[in-house]
Amino acid sequence: MRKVLFLFAVLTFISCKKESEESFGKPETTTEVQKPEELGKAIFEGKGACVACHKPDVKLVGPSLQDIAKIYKDKNGDMVTFLKGEGEPIVDPTQYEVMKVNFAVTKTFSDEELKALEAYVYSHLK
Ligand code: HEC
Repeated sequence: MRKVLFLFAVLTFISCKKESEESFGKPETTTEVQKPEELGKAIFEGKGACVACHKPDVKLVGPSLQDIAKIYKDKNGDMVTFLKGEGEPIVDPTQYEVMKVNFAVTKTFSDEELKALEAYVYSHLK
């Protein structure tokens, strides 16, 4: 009899465990969809560290985001390709060497992340 009880206890324990595992990892129903622009901002100020050289409206080490956005729009530039290291500089080619260093980082970003960065830069368009 004791053996049976023990077995019962073990079975109950296993089935409980299974249940809690199943409920774990279910997609949350309330997760908000993050706008590309917001993701871009997070990368720009976070792991991209772009903010060290680029400010929204003043030139620092690199051109301001307003200037980049304007020139990319006027010249129909492809920022994603540029950040992959596969394009040509169109904003300030004389300083390209300084920007080039960052491709080591931006090349590790996904297309989604690069597009998010582009959306963030474009959000500064006046
Ligand atoms: C060490 C300073 C520095 C950092 C950090 C930096 N940049 Fe730049 N960036 C520059 C400079 C200088 C230029 C101007 C040269 C040029 O136009 O390529 C530039 C230019 C650019 C351009 C215009 C390129 C063109 O077509 O001429 C874009 C877009 C850009 N940066 C995006 C970024 C992003 C996104 C990050 C973060 C992942 C970043 N930068 C980080 C210095 C930096």
